[in-house]
Amino acid sequence: MTIVEEAPAKINLALHVRHRRADGYHALETLFAFAQDGDRITVAPAGRDGFAIGGRFSAGLAREGDNLVTRARDRFRAAVAPVPPVAITLTKALPIASGIGGGSADAAATLRALARLSGVPVKRVMPVAASLGADVPACVLGRTSRGTGRGDELEELDGLTDLPLLLVNPLVAVSTAAVFAGWDGVDRGGLALGNPMAVALAGRNDLEPAARAVAPVIDTVLATLAEQPGVRLTRMSGSGATCFALFDDVAGRDAADRAVAAARPDWWRMASRLA
Ligand code: C5P
Repeated sequence: MTIVEEAPAKINLALHVRHRRADGYHALETLFAFAQDGDRITVAPAGRDGFAIGGRFSAGLAREGDNLVTRARDRFRAAVAPVPPVAITLTKALPIASGIGGGSADAAATLRALARLSGVPVKRVMPVAASLGADVPACVLGRTSRGTGRGDELEELDGLTDLPLLLVNPLVAVSTAAVFAGWDGVDRGGLALGNPMAVALAGRNDLEPAARAVAPVIDTVLATLAEQPGVRLTRMSGSGATCFALFDDVAGRDAADRAVAAARPDWWRMASRLA
């Protein structure tokens, strides 16, 4: 029996940083959403544990030991349920260190797959998810949600299901820790209340200035997306450098995808929809 779990890209439709906490993390108010596409995890019982990585962005990822996928497997075994030896495959379609939760989504998909394999309810993996990274619980949930605390205290919201989406990354890796460290410390207020689109439109990504300081090309990505016809919202996700644009219809999204491809063939793009 092979279990397949998708690891869709995470998008912070808004990300408000409130203050730095005593533990070094930052208190956030964020609106999480997910694409319908991303990485993929397969898990199959095997003679002994294995981990293989394929896909466009497989190079440069740690194999055993220091990978969030194998860490998720080991912590699941230690804290949730025993698991027989498994062969895990990661298909890495999302760029690394790009603000769309690639590693977190992979860890979350691994936990979901092992929960299915072991017949335990997915909610039982949440403490392990939080121990693996601040974004991992949101990725386990995989639905539009409001995150507070480190981003790991979640309230599910009605989604913006099927809204056409374009993700663009200039293929500059950005360190999340470095971007948080560059935040200016000014609390500009929490998320608005209301439906997710209204909250997103009224929101900000407070990490944009710090991310631009590390990767100035983010300005060019945002400007390129903002000038596309039919764009409803353009913003950076997470700590960058991936930026997203939401569109009213697929035709507008596809035209923007073609225009960005023609202007900057060196940038990574993913046309998808919100989950
Ligand atoms: O939890 P995770 O390992 O994904 O976070 C990576 C880094 O991002 C942390 O070490 C921390 O520097 C920063 N971070 C933060 N506040 C958050 C989430 C992440 O400062 N709420």
